[in-house]
Amino acid sequence: MEARQYDRAVTATPAIETVGLCKTYGGKVRALVDLDLRVERGEVFGYLGPNGAGKSTTIRLLLDLIHPTEGRAALLGLETRSQGVEARRRVGYLPGDLRLPDRLTGAEFLGSLARLRGHVDEARRDEVSARLGAILDRPLRHLSKGNRQKIGLVQAFMHRPELVVLDEPTAGLDPLLQGEVRALMREVAAEGGTVFLSSHSLDEVQHTADRVGIIRSGRLVDVDSVAGLRSRSLRRVRVAFANGVPRERFDRIEGVRVVEEQASLVRLLAPETAMDGLVKTLAEHTIVDLVSEPADLEEIFLELYREADGAG
Ligand SMILES: Nc1ncnc2c1ncn2[C@@H]1O[C@H](COP(=O)(O)OP(=O)(O)O)[C@@H](O)[C@H]1O
Ligand SMILES: [Mg+2]
Repeated sequence: MEARQYDRAVTATPAIETVGLCKTYGGKVRALVDLDLRVERGEVFGYLGPNGAGKSTTIRLLLDLIHPTEGRAALLGLETRSQGVEARRRVGYLPGDLRLPDRLTGAEFLGSLARLRGHVDEARRDEVSARLGAILDRPLRHLSKGNRQKIGLVQAFMHRPELVVLDEPTAGLDPLLQGEVRALMREVAAEGGTVFLSSHSLDEVQHTADRVGIIRSGRLVDVDSVAGLRSRSLRRVRVAFANGVPRERFDRIEGVRVVEEQASLVRLLAPETAMDGLVKTLAEHTIVDLVSEPADLEEIFLELYREADGAG
């Protein structure tokens, strides 16, 4: 296993590399600021951020559909600006704003793409279509949003690309199909391919992605493994006081934040490193009950956003 990884590290260029990538729209809107990112081959990378964070901007830059204000990017070792055509041939892409030729049926549309790309794997196309339950025999304009999304997904996976870039892939899909899309992504990675997917929901990517990058207001806030995010050991603490909540400001303790305060109950979020100080402060009051448990990933994620906003 180790030898194989070493081999990969020396022989393979990363699936995605960006250096100082910036995009400013109309000279004013700084949609992406100084993005340095490296996604290795064989991993599923989740690109997480709320609406307007700059996810689609990043993806459009990677696909060379828009041009950077500064910086550069490469896919599979190919520079997006000078080798974009070759890069796009080897990449599967699902846009966030999927547009389909309304007059064609799904089968006609996929057929025309296959001819354009030159390398067709009909068995793979039929397999993915069947797994997603894509409707191929009706004009695309008659399809619902979810059914159009399925066609978009089939075209992104059907030519067995080395890199699949998906902009909010499960938008409009029911939970059962979301699971099928997850399975497709994991399979690509298992075969040595790479998946880059954007999402505004941590829940959507935490079971799929190996690593997660968090973007907020055009800036990459953090990159970590899903396990790493979990291990940050943020605790959720609930304290019941005998004589009502004291006037003490528990959030004066470094790292501690008060989430909720009721008559005799306080709920706090605290990193493990703050627990000692917190407990010693609490011990100055009469306590009825105290619960401390690991925060879930969504809470860790929200705390990261707060930190990035300087609300700490
Ligand atoms: N073509 C455009 N012209 C001007 N501003 C844009 C354009 N596209 C996106 N933006 C702005 O750039 C920021 C990032 O947008 P986007 O990349 O679409 O975010 P996300 O995909 O994370 O929701 C937003 O403030 C958005 O309004
Ligand atoms: Mg978007």
